[in-house]
Amino acid sequence: MTILNTKLTIKQLSIRNRLVLPPITTNYGSSEGLVTQDILHFYETRSKDVGITIVEATSVQESGRIVPCSLGLWNDSQIPGMTKLVETIQQQGALAVIQLNHAGPRCPPSKDKKQGFSPSGVAFRPDVSPVIMTTKDIEQLINDFSKAAIRASKAGFDGVEIHGAHLYLLSQFLSPLTNKREDRYGGDAEGRATLALEIVKSVRKNLGPAYPIFFRINAEERIKGGQTLEDALIIGRLLADEGVDVLDITLIAHGSWKEVDNNLKVTRKKILMGSSALPKDHPSGSNVALTAAFKEKIGLPVIAVGKFGIGRAAVNAVENEKIDLVAVGRQMICDPLSAQKMLDGNDDDIIACDECLKCFASIGKGAPMACKINKDLPF
Ligand SMILES: Cc1cc2nc3c(=O)[nH]c(=O)nc-3n(C[C@H](O)[C@H](O)[C@H](O)COP(=O)(O)O)c2cc1C
Repeated sequence: MTILNTKLTIKQLSIRNRLVLPPITTNYGSSEGLVTQDILHFYETRSKDVGITIVEATSVQESGRIVPCSLGLWNDSQIPGMTKLVETIQQQGALAVIQLNHAGPRCPPSKDKKQGFSPSGVAFRPDVSPVIMTTKDIEQLINDFSKAAIRASKAGFDGVEIHGAHLYLLSQFLSPLTNKREDRYGGDAEGRATLALEIVKSVRKNLGPAYPIFFRINAEERIKGGQTLEDALIIGRLLADEGVDVLDITLIAHGSWKEVDNNLKVTRKKILMGSSALPKDHPSGSNVALTAAFKEKIGLPVIAVGKFGIGRAAVNAVENEKIDLVAVGRQMICDPLSAQKMLDGNDDDIIACDECLKCFASIGKGAPMACKINKDLPF
């Protein structure tokens, strides 16, 4: 038994331990964004031991999916499947939170002419042309985040997480790399935070003061000109003042600009690429100091992520760095018993993820998530 077994209360959430399954896009949904049997199997298997399961990036608009079979909450017909998913997670003893997202110009191409929403037109894929959002588009997006959050609460989720990280749409508004707007949604860190704050405000208004709202944010973007920790802390403070309850701290661990052929191979275009996964040479728990800075400066409960699973990094984070919750991502794809083994102090029994990134590569190709080691996925 380790300190990871300590209970934690955040608002109405009574969390049985300090481990979190972070959002992991599986591409196991249906093409209509519905919950499938594979989704239920994946989350059931991984909710047996963690305190909180955060369901993968779920789109608030049909054209905002990360992958063709991302889950969705853009219409009411998606609620019953989500209710089944909530029940599946809660029956395992974990709390169920869902991440709400719009992928912006990182979504796969579709016939929808409004596909590729973007603050200022930076491209992320050769096959999707960004659409710079008008004020009307922004108002619609705020409304759709709110409506999706209401649907999540109707489905029974214990909380929602707004995805403001990893250079998806809200993160692109927060980042100086991608937000060059001259209206009130751009400018300094405060200006760039306007959209995120308006979404939080609207979700809070619709769901009431008690409903838990998580926000996932990049502590840093390790690309020249990317968001700094200093700016992220300013944004974190504003989010806390607006009523966010938990800050889920992640980062862009590396990224770059790349020149690619456009669709017709007539011209070249510059696209931005970034990854949330720490490179192989970074040790387990490398993001703890960044996460601790949010805890210290803002005071809200925080979630740390980054190669937890092997060794004592997770225990150290909670014991010595005052980190509230520790998320275990790829390690839980590879060995779903990782959480149980960590709670029992049997880390040596964990079947180690070898960081081959097949999980990312498979969904990147539009295929269901696969793993080199765990051939039994979705289990
Ligand atoms: C296949 C895959 C899909 C992911 N999908 C999401 C997602 O939907 N939303 C999100 O915020 N992060 C997503 N992530 C990032 C993870 O939540 C986590 O931050 C990252 O894997 C680092 O943690 P780890 O080192 O424990 O794997 C994904 C990661 C992987 C490997």
